[in-house]
Amino acid sequence: MTTRPIARFAGLGVAVPEKILTNTDFEKILDTSHEWIVERTGIRERHIADEDTSVAMLAEQASKGAMARAGIGPEDVDAIILGTATPDRLLPATACDLQALLGADKAVAFDVSAACPGFLYSLGVAEGFIASGLAQNCLVVGAEKLSTITDYTDRSTAILFGDAAGAAVVQPAEGDGRGVLSMFLRSDGKLAPLLYRPGGGACDPISTKVVEERSQYMKMAGREVFKAAVRTMAQACDEALTRAGVSADDIDLLVPHQANIRILEATAKHAGVPMDKVMVNVDRYGNTSSASIPLALDQAVAEGRIKQGSLLLLVAFGAGFTWGSAVVRW
Ligand code: ACO
Repeated sequence: MTTRPIARFAGLGVAVPEKILTNTDFEKILDTSHEWIVERTGIRERHIADEDTSVAMLAEQASKGAMARAGIGPEDVDAIILGTATPDRLLPATACDLQALLGADKAVAFDVSAACPGFLYSLGVAEGFIASGLAQNCLVVGAEKLSTITDYTDRSTAILFGDAAGAAVVQPAEGDGRGVLSMFLRSDGKLAPLLYRPGGGACDPISTKVVEERSQYMKMAGREVFKAAVRTMAQACDEALTRAGVSADDIDLLVPHQANIRILEATAKHAGVPMDKVMVNVDRYGNTSSASIPLALDQAVAEGRIKQGSLLLLVAFGAGFTWGSAVVRW
C-alpha cells in the first residue's frame, strides 16, 4: 500500500472576471433585497465573465499563474484534470481546449464532472495518476462560467452564483510530510433532482420546448440542498480528520466550498473549528462551484493565513449529490 502523502501543491493560480454584479444590481431585476441576500447567504457581490471569455480562457489564466509559481512550463505538464459543471461545449472536454491554449502538447487532458467538489475530485484523480506513475506534473483546475446556466429570472438561484477559475500544479510529495494527508470522496445519485439542469443534455436535447421551459438552466430545491449540504459536509470533515489521524484542534485553517455563510458556519461548528480559523470569501465571489476552493486557498496564501507547514481541512459538496474532503499539510 502506498503511504501518504503521495502528492503536494506546488503552485496556485486564479482568474476572476472584472465585471461585478452586486446585490443592488439584483434589486433592479428581481423581487429581492441586499439585506435578504446578505442575511440568508452572506453574499454581497459576484464576478461575471463577459460573452467573449470562455471557461478554457479563465482556466488558462489560472493555470499560467499556477505554473509560474511552480516554476514549470507547458512542456512539463503530464496531465490536465479540469473540474467543471459548465464546459464550453459538451464535446470535446474543456480540458482539451485548455491544453491547446497552453501548448501543453504531451499532456493527457480531460474533464471531471462532479459539480462543486470538482477540484477535490480532480485532486483525487491527480493523486492516483502520481501514485501509479502515470504523471509527475498534474494541472488540477476548477473553472466555471455559472452565469451561462443561471436563470436570472429565478430569485432563489440567480443571486448565488459567480464565475471564476482556480488551478494548482500538483506534484509528487517530497518526503518532508507536506502534501495531501487524507482524502474522502462520496456521491449519492438519488439526490440528483435536488439540483440539476433538466434540459439540454441527451435526455432532453436542446429544443424550442427546452428553451420555453427554461430547463437548460439550473433548478434547485434550496432548502433540501441546504440540509443535505450541512449533513454531507459534516460527514466529510469527520472522515478527512479521522483518515489523517488528526483532530479539529490541529487544523490551522478550514477551507470550505463557498456556497452560503450559514452552511459554512454549520460546518465549522460541527467540525469544532472556530470561525476565525475558517476561510470565508463567499461575500466577494458567491458560489463559484469547482473554482471556489482554489480561489479561497489562493486568497488565504496571499493574506498570510496559509504558510508552509499549515494544516488545512478542505471540504466541498455539490450537485450529484457529490461531496468530499481532504486534510493537507501545506
Ligand atoms: N430574495 C428574497 N426572497 C427570496 C429569495 C431572494 N433572492 N429567494 C427566495 N426567497 C424567498 C422564498 O420565495 C421564500 O418565500 P415564501 O416563504 O414566501 O415562500 C422565502 O424566501 C424562504 O425561502 P427558502 O428557500 O426557505 O429560503 P432559505 O432560507 O432556505 O434560503 C437559499 C434560500 C439561500 C437558496 C438557501 O436555501 C441555500 O443557500 N441553499 C443551498 C443552496 C446551495 O448552496 N446551492 C449550491 C449547491 S452547490 C452546486 O453544486 C452548484
